[in-house]
Amino acid sequence: MINAARFHNDGFLVVPGVLDAAQMATLRARAEAIARDFDPGDDQPVFDPASAKHAQDRWFLESGDEIRCFYESEALDEQGRRRVPAEQAVNKIGHALHDLDQDFARISRSPKLAAIAQALGMRDPRLLQSMYIFKSPGIGGEVPWHQDATFLYTDPITVLGLWIALDDADRHNGCLWMVPGGHRQSLKQRFVRHGEGTRFITLDDAPLDARGAVLIEVEVGTLVAFPRKAPHRSDPNRSDRARHAYALHLIEADAFYPEDNWLRRRPERPLRGFATEADSEETQS
Ligand code: FE2
Repeated sequence: MINAARFHNDGFLVVPGVLDAAQMATLRARAEAIARDFDPGDDQPVFDPASAKHAQDRWFLESGDEIRCFYESEALDEQGRRRVPAEQAVNKIGHALHDLDQDFARISRSPKLAAIAQALGMRDPRLLQSMYIFKSPGIGGEVPWHQDATFLYTDPITVLGLWIALDDADRHNGCLWMVPGGHRQSLKQRFVRHGEGTRFITLDDAPLDARGAVLIEVEVGTLVAFPRKAPHRSDPNRSDRARHAYALHLIEADAFYPEDNWLRRRPERPLRGFATEADSEETQS
């Protein structure tokens, strides 16, 4: 049972047991295989939300409709060589797993996730972005306070984040922090294309208000849903346990998607909703 009233009131909702053990094992195995197969050549792409250095890299800027790995900055030594195994070095894989990888595509479009999105008020959702986040033991980086609409802006703002814990997530391995009621504040920034790179545009000078933030400690398989402008963050993982998670972001099909959003899709890779390939084959026949 999805408590939509609570979601709209608190600005987040915790739903245990959304993925089963087999689905989670599949996602984990696929993600680790992608990480192991990843050969970055000479230029090791790092994703570091704290410094945002990645934001000017083509590897990042052209990842909106690709499956690409990004390393933790602490996974590399001073010469830029990996100092941990490949499947621990990756910060995340993004941003179109849900379209380009069969296993991710199927599980991202499971009826349960579609039903949750609908219960939380999405009318005609499109799956915009997917990220497999490793948050590896000891080196998993911090994600500072932010609002997802900063990165996935539409007019009106419609983004819904579905974050699923693939390990138990607690204060020691970098679980989420959320702010009850924090989703009612204005959008502070937009992250947009600028020339060959990106920049942040300030929409509201008042800083993001994270007073009253709470730790969201959850068991493996739990989904945390949060809307639009809900502030959230996570600590670095200094524990000896991984904190894998899968995050999916949806927008409404009829909302305006600005051309200067950082995330771009080629016309031949249009956004799709929750209907599976099997559904669309049925509709066509
Ligand atoms: Fe986020």
